[in-house]
Amino acid sequence: LASTEVDLSAIEEGMSITVVWRGKPVFIRHRTADEISIAEETPLSDLPDPTPDAERVEKPEWLILIGICTHLGCVPLGQKTTEPRGDYGGWFCPCHGSHYDTSGRIRKGPAPLNLAVPPYVFTDDAAIRIG
Ligand code: FES
Repeated sequence: LASTEVDLSAIEEGMSITVVWRGKPVFIRHRTADEISIAEETPLSDLPDPTPDAERVEKPEWLILIGICTHLGCVPLGQKTTEPRGDYGGWFCPCHGSHYDTSGRIRKGPAPLNLAVPPYVFTDDAAIRIG
């Protein structure tokens, strides 16, 4: 399928789900107020791949990412609250130790770039179409 429809209404704040789009894992996280404010307040000078959080989301509470590490393509951990999320509270890639923040931006480790944001649109208050 070229596009994937996702109903977000059952995803509680602080929870994440993984869907598949064009054979790739897509991470959807319903961010908490804390996760949002940390992401928004991080100085760009702290970021290896400097991008404001506001350019990575349509709505601050919903972070949508391609779940593939930009180093060598492993799937980072952190989708479940029981998994390690790294030093910046987002995702941790166990293959070679890349740490991503609550905007999916690379903060530490060998990955050169932020987790990519796929093309998507909101089709309703709590529904998106990816692709
Ligand atoms: Fe993720 Fe190497 S593939 S750190």
